Parts: sequence; structure tokens; C-alpha cells
Amino acid sequence: MSLSDDKHKITDQINQTNSLKELEELRLEYLGKKGFIPNEMKLLGSLSIEEKKSKGQELNQLKQLIEESIKEQKIYIENADLNQKIKNENIDITLPANLNSKGKIHPITQTTFDIIEIFGHLNYSVETGPDIETDFNNFSALNIPSHHPAREMQDTFYVEGKKNEENNVLRTHTSPVQVRTMLKTKPPIKIIVPGRTYRSDSDSTHTPMFHQVEGLVVNKNATMADLKSTLIVFLKEFFHVEDLKYRFRPSYFPFTEPSAEMDVAYTKKNNVIKIGEGDEWLEVLGCGMVNPKVLENCNIDPQIYQGFAFGMGIERLSMLKYGITDMRGLFDVNYKWLEHFGFNALDIKTRSEI
Ligand code: DAH
Repeated sequence: MSLSDDKHKITDQINQTNSLKELEELRLEYLGKKGFIPNEMKLLGSLSIEEKKSKGQELNQLKQLIEESIKEQKIYIENADLNQKIKNENIDITLPANLNSKGKIHPITQTTFDIIEIFGHLNYSVETGPDIETDFNNFSALNIPSHHPAREMQDTFYVEGKKNEENNVLRTHTSPVQVRTMLKTKPPIKIIVPGRTYRSDSDSTHTPMFHQVEGLVVNKNATMADLKSTLIVFLKEFFHVEDLKYRFRPSYFPFTEPSAEMDVAYTKKNNVIKIGEGDEWLEVLGCGMVNPKVLENCNIDPQIYQGFAFGMGIERLSMLKYGITDMRGLFDVNYKWLEHFGFNALDIKTRSEI
């Protein structure tokens, strides 16, 4: 059989294929490593120069023709497959709609919204900062000396710095944003800082990543009385309890002087916690007057300015407000859990509507 007979036979064969699989089999048969064309090419070696030239040319033309026919047939088969698929596809409009496919807002996000909203009404603005911080912003500027236990490896995740630079850290609290803000703006300052924080700690009540909200006020006349009244208003609003029972306890933070922690009273009945009354106390936040050394470290004159600051853990506030008893639920990525504890986006009311 001559090559021109082959030509017709082969293109017919290609045009009659109905599937990509069949087409691929033909491609291998003719163009594959051990296929017809490569075999014929090998045989050229035994021919005279003249014959080699003309047969070689013919073979190359045939190869090209096969390649083009396969390409065209491939497009034809793919189109036919698609048309068939479209024809077979129909929507069963009698099937019930999937009502549970709506997402929910995570309690951590909701609690952050709650906190921002209350402080928004008190004229605070929101600042944010990076998760990876310098040692200076996270520790030194905040008067946490190098021998302070918070600097030990077991508490802090260190991030290797560039050659000859000091190590960075995953911020262990949101307080470094105080430093960033004071370094870049002149007082008066009135900010809250929600964000992720990290500590090398993991047990039933600690997770390596958690969330905090920081607060900072710096002006010429901020007092401890302003700090106390601000936090009392905040917690009453946050827990929706008008006659909230609370107390301030003296405490210690290197970046505030004097420092305090704030507790709210609670009762526990049938494993349900009720916030605001009773004889048991729960710590909810840390606070104090900004240490003059911190103001100095941030180029603010402590003879002219003073301020107060506070910091709280969002997980804890969220659990207390929304009755979540197991902290791990907050991080489990369990849709059933989120269905129960999450919030519908459209149900969120602004405070003025409540
Ligand atoms: N940074 C503290 C912590 O992570 C929380 C805190 C306490 C922040 C008192 C403050 C403050 O601004 O005044 O435990």
C-alpha cells in the first residue's frame, strides 16, 4: 500500500473516533514512539539518497496531516461531549432548597464587633498593628526589661531576624500598638486595638493564638477616675447588666503605674454562669495609668502628658457573654458548633437599635 492510500485510511479512521480515549489510541498507533510514522522513518536509513529524500518528505507531510486531523477531531469530540452534557443536565425544581448553607459569624468576630461598637460610641478610634513585632515595640518600649519572665522562650514565639538584626517576635499582646501609635501621633490619643496575639502556651484554657483588645488614652489630664468610669460603662454595656457588681484589684504591669485588674461578680447555677451578681469573682481585664517611662520611650513628655491603658482577652469575654464553656470550640472549625454559637449576619443589630 502506498503512503497516499495510507493517508485516506488514516484520516478516515481518525474522523470516525467517538471518544478522546479512542483518539489517543490512534495517536499512539501512528505517532507514538513505536508507532507507524517513527517506524517508517527508521526504515529510511536503508534507502538510496534519492528515495530517502522523496519518501522522507512524503512521511513528514503524512505526519503533519495526522497531527492536524487529530487536533481537529479532538475539538469535535470535546464539543460533542459538552453538548451531550448540556442536553442531559436538568434541574429538579422539586428538590428542597438547602437552607443550612448560609455562613455564620464566629463568636470571636461578633465579640470584637461588640467591643468596637461600645468604644466607638465613646469616641475611640480603631488602630491595628502587625502580628510580627520588634523586640522593642513588644517589650523594651513597654518597660519590660530583658530579665522579665514574659521574655523567656516558653512564653514567646521568636522569629529569626535578618543577619546582625535582633530577633522579632510574634506579638505576645496588643500593647505594642500603643508604642506604634505614640511614636507616630501627637496626643491627644484615644484608641482601641483589636487583634491576634501569640504565646507558646497550650492547654484547656490557653491556645497559642488568641485575641485581645487594647485601649490607650493619652492627654494632659487623664486620671484613674476616667479609667475606672470608662471600664465600668464598657462592662455594663457589654454584658447588658445595668447594676453590674465589679471590683478593681491592685496589680502589676511593667507598662502601667499604678496597675489594676478588674473583676466582675458571677453566680453559677446548673452549670450556667450569670454575670453581674453573686459572691464569686472573675478577672476580665488589666489596666492602669501609663507608666511615665513608657511615655518617655515613645518621645512623649510625661511632665505634660499622662494617660491610661487597658487590655482584655476576647476569648474570655466571648465565652462569658455567650455561654461558651469549652474554649477549644472557638478554634475547632466545627460547623455544627458554629451553627449553634455563631451569629446570622443579618441579625446583627447596631447598638442604637437595641
Ligand atoms: N498586655 C497585658 C497582657 O497581655 C494586658 C494589659 C494590661 C494591657 C494592662 C494594658 C494594661 O494596656 O494597661 O496581659
